[in-house]
Amino acid sequence: MKKTTALTALITSYVLLFTACSKSDTATDGGTGGTRTFSCAGITPKFATDVQPILTTVCSINSNCHAGGSSNSGGPFTSYAEVNAKKSNIRAAILAGTMPQSGSISQAQINAFICWIDSGAPNN
Ligand code: HEM
Repeated sequence: MKKTTALTALITSYVLLFTACSKSDTATDGGTGGTRTFSCAGITPKFATDVQPILTTVCSINSNCHAGGSSNSGGPFTSYAEVNAKKSNIRAAILAGTMPQSGSISQAQINAFICWIDSGAPNN
């Protein structure tokens, strides 16, 4: 009887230890909650009417972000050429939830930006 109780106690403490460890891993994702999702159902976003407004209001708000003169790893996003050159990094940063670094981006804006990139990032 004593042996079974000791064994049960040992197994329980292992399970508790294991669960505590796995929870703490989740907490280290910087609070962004991991990846974002997107849907292109029913939309055909265009650069000028759908993406440019996101750049102006969400990304290129000042030179510490992606306005003219930005010297960070993303650089300025003030023209089609600049955005097109960084489209894969932009896609990765938005879906990873690392960008925008401050402020917010709506689900509709995420869909528009990612689906425009996935449709070949046309200059339209
Ligand atoms: C949806 C809007 C935005 C997009 C698409 C975007 C995209 C990016 C990309 C692609 C990078 C380069 C990451 C890499 O591949 O190394 C980057 C870096 C960076 N962005 Fe943004 N960004 C956005 C908004 C912002 C805002 C609003 C700010 C300022 C508050 C900002 C500040 C920065 C900074 C400081 C870096 C450099 C980070 C580093 O060196 O670790 N970004 N961004």
